[in-house]
Amino acid sequence: MDSFIVRGPCRLEGSVEVSGAKNAVLPLITASILTGGCCTLDNVPELRDTRTMIKLMEMLGATVSFENGTVSVDASHLTSHEAPYDLVRTMRASIYALGPLVARYGRARVSMPGGCAWGPRPVNLHLQGLSALGAAIKIDHGYIDATAEKLRGAEIVLPVPSVGATVNILMAAVLAEGRSVIENAAREPEVVELATVLKEGGAGIEGEGTTRISIEGVSEISPYRHRVIPDRIEAGTFAAAAVMTGSEITIRTCRPDHLMAVIDKLRQCGGEFEIGDDHMTVRGPARIAPTDVETGFYPSFPTDMQAQMMAVLAGADGSSTVTDRVYPDRFTHVPELRRLGADIKLDGNIAVITGVGRLEGAPLMATDIRASSALILAALVAEGETKVLRIYHIDRGYENLEKKLQALGADIERITE
Ligand code: UD1
Repeated sequence: MDSFIVRGPCRLEGSVEVSGAKNAVLPLITASILTGGCCTLDNVPELRDTRTMIKLMEMLGATVSFENGTVSVDASHLTSHEAPYDLVRTMRASIYALGPLVARYGRARVSMPGGCAWGPRPVNLHLQGLSALGAAIKIDHGYIDATAEKLRGAEIVLPVPSVGATVNILMAAVLAEGRSVIENAAREPEVVELATVLKEGGAGIEGEGTTRISIEGVSEISPYRHRVIPDRIEAGTFAAAAVMTGSEITIRTCRPDHLMAVIDKLRQCGGEFEIGDDHMTVRGPARIAPTDVETGFYPSFPTDMQAQMMAVLAGADGSSTVTDRVYPDRFTHVPELRRLGADIKLDGNIAVITGVGRLEGAPLMATDIRASSALILAALVAEGETKVLRIYHIDRGYENLEKKLQALGADIERITE
């Protein structure tokens, strides 16, 4: 198992290129199931999650190649309709096979995802949506069995704007007979990206990016070729790194318009931003100002940036709060940040962070993708050596993070034990 050794404190300088968005790529790969040909995606990040999704597609019988950031998937002749437990337990997004499989093949068997490191993550809304479209859903020995002769359009009102449920329902509804509406749909850029690609393939979708998506079912989706949007969370993580280390860096090939809530908060901390259409230069302050952060659904502050923001605030001049309204238990990074000397008190889903003048390097354990990047950010400003164990979480969601940080001047190395 690999670890990172980070020696701090450090200043960063230079520029960094953001990779393609993990959370956009994963549904775009399974959406190929809806087509009868070979789909191609460019700007695909080399990540464990990308590889896991490719493995799943291969297990279903698809032919897949992945070279130089381009994935080609031919899912026209699938031989299996099952996503097994061994894959789903390593990547919950395997559930994205469910909607397309039942829509195109009339059946799907996908292992029920369990909880994750920070608590329960139900899929009830995915199942309710598919069932409203006419799929018969059965839970059998830990597996979701979905079958349908033909899906029929329906009006689905989501009680919360779940990204996953919106994506799964959207992928199923494009091949359903008639019109579907998703009310209170998720508005995340990754949902818009999926709708854009499906439309390129001939789907009748309107309203993506708003809370009401309407879908006019079509009989087939044509194969598509698409360049994946940049990862807004990776861009936000580098912006946080610049702010907390008091550095100036330019973040290239990013979409600042997807990150406005994060930019607003980092500005409140004293960060200065020069923003272009596809890049931004971030300058960190000499002293970080405290602020209060609440996560929410897009366009609010993303829960996937909550841990990194807490790392920034650990060194602020005063007291801040961070409230997670999307995942109230998502605080596994808190005890690890405390090991570096951070002063964080937890009360339910609210963390009170009293900035300290100095963090000290210590051995730490990574627990999930974003929590791990928060630990690395904190290690950049901590005095001395920090060893971050279990960095396979980082490899799930950040492409070449240590190489990108090294190029910016950080003292970070990967150790294989
Ligand atoms: C996606 C992202 C993840 C991000 C999250 C929130 C991917 C692969 N993952 O996860 O990185 O942290 O959005 O932005 O894109 N909920 C239910 N029932 C359901 C589904 C969700 O109650 O069936 C609740 C969840 O408990 C949570 C909220 O809805 O409180 C939002 O979750 P959701 O948007 O579905 O997250 P994911 O799609 O799993």
